Amino acid sequence: MRLIELTLKNFRNYPRLELRPHPGFNYIFGNNGSGKTNLLEAIYYLSHLRSFRRASREKMVLHGAGGMYASGVFSEDGSGAETRLEAAVSGRERKYKKDRQELQGLMPYLDSSHVIVFFPETTQIVKEGPGARRRFFDQAIAAVEPAHLEDSRAYAKLLSERNHLLRNESESAMIQVWQERLIEVAARIIVRRKRYINSLKNRLNHLESLFGETQGPRVSVAYEANGLPGGDEEAEGDIREGLQATAQRLAREEARRKTTLWGPRFDDFHLFWEERRAKDVASQGEQRLTTILLVSANAEEYKERRKETPVILLDDLGSELDADRKKRMLLFLGSLGAQTFITSTEEPGLSANEIDGRTFLVRDAMVERID
Ligand SMILES: Nc1ncnc2c1ncn2[C@@H]1O[C@H](COP(=O)(O)OP(=O)(O)OP(=O)(O)O)[C@@H](O)[C@H]1O
Ligand SMILES: [Mg+2]
Repeated sequence: MRLIELTLKNFRNYPRLELRPHPGFNYIFGNNGSGKTNLLEAIYYLSHLRSFRRASREKMVLHGAGGMYASGVFSEDGSGAETRLEAAVSGRERKYKKDRQELQGLMPYLDSSHVIVFFPETTQIVKEGPGARRRFFDQAIAAVEPAHLEDSRAYAKLLSERNHLLRNESESAMIQVWQERLIEVAARIIVRRKRYINSLKNRLNHLESLFGETQGPRVSVAYEANGLPGGDEEAEGDIREGLQATAQRLAREEARRKTTLWGPRFDDFHLFWEERRAKDVASQGEQRLTTILLVSANAEEYKERRKETPVILLDDLGSELDADRKKRMLLFLGSLGAQTFITSTEEPGLSANEIDGRTFLVRDAMVERID
């Protein structure tokens, strides 16, 4: 997937912007507050219809304006087929169009493109609790297997219903019925997570060697399904049985605490730096590197499973990376074969023959091509 044309009206600090990105590498630099993150936010918004900064739509409207408009033309890698996506906010009203047709539901819109983002806060997946990692990986899995999103929603609903039953000390037969339903969905979620992480492990090693870390693989990831035996076992039946056994073991404790104590909501994805927990040992730059490698691995996974490359947005890429790593990171991203948008406050420091791409300078709410 490539973004070939972007138009903004009254989006954040841009009264008006028209941009023709490069199909490969786009390096965007400018001073603090010039509008770099806003530009990536617009691209992300076009495909996800929300901000990666979790900002409300109103915040994306230029101060003092009554509404905003964003439009992007995306082209598919294989067929070259083009899709125009448009989103307009006017007061409280929103309108979305795909190829000039107004849409009722959002699903056909959201499926039209896929944009993967790395921004400084993404690094929190290393330091923060398991929830941030579950969100990060579940989102990546859902991007390649939409059924994962449906199951995650069904699971959240069943879990809250079962917890409600436990809280009200309902009949155990009732709780049992919900338990069976919950186990069904939970097992599917766990199987997908296991498969995904198994596949990601090899990919990470490969990417790390591409990136040129000379001391062998340093980053790794492991999925721990709480209360289930470890290992790479992926058979759904076995996982269901494992969950049954865990549920039985915890039944009395659950009755006492009036809440469900097992299932994918209690699992964690452990990140390692040189075989130790990354959150304990990795430096700031190493945490960043870990995260960028994971984002790239997700992109590769997407490319292989969907037969389409995602668009990769990397906000404020260079900060915290030393000059050597920064340069290797740019060359590495240039080699992924996906369209990338990279922002920085510094000039790229690459010569024209090192990477095939375009450099833009952001200044006074304008994005000017400078190569
Ligand atoms: N709704 C809005 N209307 C007008 N201006 C806005 C709006 N929202 C944010 N801005 C302004 O847009 C400017 C650019 O913000 P942005 O986050 O894109 O900067 P940046 O180039 O990423 O800076 P940094 O290098 O510090 O990350 C900021 O000065 C901000 O105050
Ligand atoms: Mg920024």
